[in-house]
Amino acid sequence: MMDFTFAYGPALSYLSEEDQQKYSVEFKKYLQKAWKEDATQKEWKGYYFLPAFEPVTAQFAYNQWNPNKGDVIVASYPKTGTIWMRELVRHILYCHDKELLEKAKATMFLFSFLSFGQESKYDVLKKLNFSRNVLATHLPAPLINFKKYEEKGAKIIYMMRNPKDQAVSWYHFSKTQPYAGLPSYKDMYTADKKKFFDSYFAGEHKLFAKKGEGYLEHLKEWYPHQNDSNVLFAFYEDLKKDINQGIRKVAKFLDVTLSDEDVEMIAEKTSFNSMKESTRQRQNIQTQKVRVFKIFRKGAVGEWKNYLTLEQSKLIDEKVQKILGNTNLKFVYDLDKTRCNL
Ligand code: A3P
Repeated sequence: MMDFTFAYGPALSYLSEEDQQKYSVEFKKYLQKAWKEDATQKEWKGYYFLPAFEPVTAQFAYNQWNPNKGDVIVASYPKTGTIWMRELVRHILYCHDKELLEKAKATMFLFSFLSFGQESKYDVLKKLNFSRNVLATHLPAPLINFKKYEEKGAKIIYMMRNPKDQAVSWYHFSKTQPYAGLPSYKDMYTADKKKFFDSYFAGEHKLFAKKGEGYLEHLKEWYPHQNDSNVLFAFYEDLKKDINQGIRKVAKFLDVTLSDEDVEMIAEKTSFNSMKESTRQRQNIQTQKVRVFKIFRKGAVGEWKNYLTLEQSKLIDEKVQKILGNTNLKFVYDLDKTRCNL
């Protein structure tokens, strides 16, 4: 049986022994089923979720869960820098409180995504007792209760990345999913690059999208919220270009005042190498052995040039024009040509 303790164990260690025992039995059983024995893609309103992301939990978040004032939701399509932004937010909120920062860092996987796992993880979140929770989500905009989050004073950061690098990142990451070897995912996770990207760009991966759709539609549906008072749009490439400016902008949005030293320290602690190393130390030996969820690969801009064919690259350009041509979203595919949005 695969050991998935990394997905819940570190956070549970902050609970009473009784709770640790109770929840670890529950989550262990759940993940074994959701990621291995019964790794199905469930659906809500036509949008398909990856295994272990649950429509019922997304519905719970929509209808029942009430965020605290100042909670932060990092929304994104997968592989656009979600974990990086989540880490930046945690450091910005907790850089002056080492213990709280450690507890936030321990709150991974199951407890750090709105719709990941079962509803009971919200009980754990409550027991962890953060004054400001930091959660992530890959949900499309129609499945987000914007009205409630605004009324409750929760803030949302929507993270974006150019769609060519996003696709390459997904190509590598998808292979490290615990269910990647199961027969029903054979086509989705093929190692044949051309086949993989052709099927991905045709919207056949059902990745938090409707059939035949994908990242660009996710962006299109989020776009109308760009100017909501409690929403900030941020680009991966802008953070790569000028992380200090990015940290200042996010801190301002979160109503946190930082000194120049704070900004430097946060930039250092959330650098690609620091995050890669601290995650390696956190995840257990078993995880590394089976290479589950390899999140940190290159962390670069422009990797797509080594992976996509000319036709595939052209296809993306055409799709961007067709789907997002009416928006002001402009992607940066090469850092030399970067402009800064932040
Ligand atoms: P690559 O696969 O291109 O390396 P997500 O968190 O949405 O799954 O996104 C993962 C991508 O963000 C990966 O891209 C990962 O390396 C990159 N990433 C994570 N932390 C980063 C950091 N501190 N700096 C730059 N890129 C980072």
